[in-house]
Parts: sequence; C-alpha cells; structure tokens
Amino acid sequence: MTERFAPADLHEHLANLEARGLLTRITRPIDKDSELHPLMRWQFQGGLPEQDRRAFLFTNVIDAKGKKYDIPVVVGALAASPEIYAAGLGVGVEDIGKVWVDAMANPIPSELITDAPCQEIVLTGEDLTREGGGLAMLPVPVSTPGFDSAPYLTATLVVTKDPETGVRNMGTYRGALKARDRLGVRMASRLSGAGGYQHWLKYQARGEKMPVAIVVGCAPAVLFTGPQKLRIDEDEMDVAGGLMGRPVRTVRCKTVDLEIPADSEIVIEGLIATDYLEPEGPFGESHGHIALEDFNMSMQVTAITMRKNPVFVSIVSQVTPSESSVLKKVAYEPLYFEHLKRVLNIKGIKRVVMHEPLTNIRKVIFLQFDRSAPQTEIWRGLQGAAALQAQCGKVVIAVSDDIEPNNADAIFWSIAYRSNINTDVVMTPYRSGGHGPKSGAGGSDGTLMIDATLKGKMPPLALPAEQFMSRAKEIWEELQLPRLTPQSPWHGYHLGDWDDLWTGFAERAVAGDWEENGAHTGARQRGGMKPETPARTIER
Ligand SMILES: Cc1cc2nc3c(=O)[nH]c(=O)nc-3n(C[C@H](O)[C@H](O)[C@H](O)COP(=O)(O)O)c2cc1C
Repeated sequence: MTERFAPADLHEHLANLEARGLLTRITRPIDKDSELHPLMRWQFQGGLPEQDRRAFLFTNVIDAKGKKYDIPVVVGALAASPEIYAAGLGVGVEDIGKVWVDAMANPIPSELITDAPCQEIVLTGEDLTREGGGLAMLPVPVSTPGFDSAPYLTATLVVTKDPETGVRNMGTYRGALKARDRLGVRMASRLSGAGGYQHWLKYQARGEKMPVAIVVGCAPAVLFTGPQKLRIDEDEMDVAGGLMGRPVRTVRCKTVDLEIPADSEIVIEGLIATDYLEPEGPFGESHGHIALEDFNMSMQVTAITMRKNPVFVSIVSQVTPSESSVLKKVAYEPLYFEHLKRVLNIKGIKRVVMHEPLTNIRKVIFLQFDRSAPQTEIWRGLQGAAALQAQCGKVVIAVSDDIEPNNADAIFWSIAYRSNINTDVVMTPYRSGGHGPKSGAGGSDGTLMIDATLKGKMPPLALPAEQFMSRAKEIWEELQLPRLTPQSPWHGYHLGDWDDLWTGFAERAVAGDWEENGAHTGARQRGGMKPETPARTIER
C-alpha cells in the first residue's frame, strides 16, 4: 500500500476533492427544503456510472421562506462513490479494505487538546432560543421532500459514553429538527442496532439523562467509524485514529462530559431524556421505504459550537444505491471478509460482496470462492456470513471465482446453471426481521443459503475466445464505433470439460480448414443411435 495522508479535516478533504475534479460547486440559489437533495438524487437515479458521481457543494443555500444561510452545504463528500470515500482515507479504492482491517487491529489512542477549531464559536443560553437562533441557524436540508416531517441531520457522529466503563461510542444516527434547541434522535433498538441505545439503557437504569454530542462534519476518516459496525466495547475514537494513521485530536465539550474530534465543523451538545420519548418521523430510511412515525429519543440542546467558517455536511440515504449504502458497503465488506478469512479460517474464500441496488447491502451477501474450495468450507462460509450480524445475511449465495459478484445477472446465471435446487439450497428459520419497514411482510424471518459454485467440470462459456474478442475490439475502436465498456464475461473460457480433439477442430475452423474437420467426422459415421447421443460415450 502506498503511503497515505488522510485529510485532517473536512476543509482539507473538500480541497482535495475539488483539485481532483470530484467536487461540483453549485452557486445558484438552491432551496434546502425542496431542491437540494432531489438535485443530488439524480446522480443515483439518472443512470450515471458510479465513477461519475461527484460531491456537490452548495454555496447559495436558501429555504422555503427565502431565508439565506451563511453556511454552505456539501452532499456526497463522504461517499458519493468509493473513489470519494477512498480520498477521505488518503488511499486508492483498492486499499480501503486493508486500511479498515489495520485500523481495527491497531487502534491509535486519541490526543486531548484544549484549544479546538470546533469551539471557535460557542452558542449557549439565549443564542439557542432566540428567533432564528440555535438549530434554525443551520442549513439543515429536508432529505425526502414530500414525505419527511422535518429537516434532518444525517451526516452525524453521535458521541455517547458508557456510564459504567467510560467506553465511547460514535454512531451515525439521524436527528430531526424539533425546536431551536430540541432534536428528535433515533437510535435503533433492534438486535445489532445502535451502540448509543445500549448506553441509553444504562442511563435509564440509573435514572439519569444521557449526555450526547452530535458532530456534524469532521475529518472523513473519523466520520467513517459512525456507520461501521464495531464491537460494542471498542472505543471508536481510537479506531478512528487507526483509520487516520495518527491520533485524533479531541477536546472536551463545553456543557457535557464528553470528548469530541477537535477538528469538527459543527457540534451540537445536549442531554437525551431517558424517562420519556417523542414521536419522530416520517423520514426516508436506508432500507428504501419511509420510516413512519415512531416514539424516539428527545434531545435538549445545551450548546452549539462551531468553527468560524463551517461547512454543513449532509448524506443522501433512502433508496439504494445512495451515499449511505456506499459508506456501509466499502466498510462492511472488509469486516465480513476478515471474519471469514482470519477468524473462521474458511479455505478458498476470495471476496465478500454485499448487494447494493434497492436491497441495501444488508439483506443479500455474495461470497466468491476459489474453485478448489471444498464443499464443506463453502457451507461453513455461507453459515458464517449469515451469522455474523443479526441484521445482515438473510440471503447468502456462494459463487466461483469466474463470477463477478457485483453483477446480479451473473449471480442468477450461476444459480441457473451451477446449483441444484434439491441439493444446494438450505433454508433455516428464526432470523430477526432486521432493518426494514415495520409494515409489509415484516415479522421474524429466515435465512436462505445457496451454493451456486461450480460443482464439477463444465463446457466452455460460449463466447469467442479472448484473442478474437480483443482483436475485434481493436477493429471496433479503429472504426470509431460507440465507446465500449466491457462487461464480464466478455470472452469465452474453459470450465474443465473439453477434449484436445475439439481444440484441433476450433483451430482449423478459424484457419478456414473446415473441410478437414468434415473429413474427420465423415470417417466416424455410424448408425443405431438416437440423435444427440454424445460422441464420447460411444467412441471411448
Ligand atoms: C446516513 C446514515 C444514517 C443512519 N441513521 C441511523 C439512525 O438514525 N439510527 C440508527 O440506529 N442507525 C443509523 N444508521 C446506521 C448506523 O450508523 C450503523 O448501524 C452503525 O453501525 C451504528 O454505529 P454503532 O454500532 O456504534 O451504534 C445510519 C447510517 C447512515 C450511513
């Protein structure tokens, strides 16, 4: 891996993205409540290839009432594409997994400082409640206009602390604007849900409010720990240090006993009630449906601190692919691969790919195996992937290494021709419903595992062999026909079932010597058989 320089804060990251042509500035007035997210959404719904997606920096943000905001808004700056995510770690896309695995194995303790950029401006007391003050100062967009009930914080790092052990948790949880000094916060209470919720339960048992700090905008590598599913007892600030490759600078909050990344943009401090909840939602969820109104946590804001020139960050979530699913996909896949490869020591596992379009990465997982992998290892792998997290792996499918797992068509192809539904499919009951809408199919669920790997030799794939397709591509380009983007498989290849005799036939066919082949088969004519009797069953 090349040496890496993870940006120290969001400003450095945005400058890097702009220098690399990965950031588009939008200077015309944009209504944060009805135009901003829909404009960004077209990047995902408009048929653009993933690598053409950009971060959008909105420098002229207004709202429905015509109010102008001083603070610019950036969307897509964390993970509109894996390339943008990788820039946040200071590496190439191919090294994202390695950085994650290293960071989890080698966390770096944070460094407490006293004079922090994120506290250049401190708002408390009346500044939080006056007309247009507090949360109303922030250009918080509406994510799913037409359905969402409020502007929502989405690019958050919600910092809480275990009141017994002191271990910090940082999770990306949404926050609904309720009043200038009050937020609705949703921490998932399901199995494998939010780490912050576990802390909340402990404060509730003690009869205390939960101190909380919501960071909006910081060094991307630090924010990336928010959506990652780390162990509950793992200090995420230290893992963030591992991702940065150096200690994260932290500072104590002004009104609650918590430490936050010092180089953050905006921090909202407060206390979450543990003796009552408040209706929150509807809000467009990452499972692709609108989350309806639920009772969730209520946070009283005690301070808002920020840099002098903050940038407000928002994440596009909802239907996948989205920025939210890219964020999770590039981080969860290495976590799963590491678990299968090193913890379970599964022989022959080569890749883990989580299916993204519409299904939202958690439900459907593909495992790619080396062709030598024993069947028992394939099944251990299927079960390991299905079991690692309660919310992930409802459907797990194993394929061989010639199948591109990011191509669902290739997966269906593999199921269609390489699996026997009688012997290669197992369903197990009793899986929790996981992350999904509460209405609809709902309820408790099960697991479907399919071994769609090659079970034995098969005839070659019926496309022209590689050298002929490559030559034809040269001619194509010479003719200046429309640009090609080769899709795997784009040439024929052997799958084990073949005979040298047929190599000779094929060579003579392309050399124009087909009559020689005809003479050969003419000499082998015989009677007494049904058409389509395989020649080799008779002749050998
Ligand atoms: C944009 C975005 C919004 C999210 N919103 C929530 C949320 O509101 N509540 C929640 O529990 N998880 C939410 N998640 C998922 C969590 O961030 C994820 O489960 C993460 O593992 C939580 O960290 P934790 O395990 O430290 O709690 C969101 C993720 C993203 C990327």
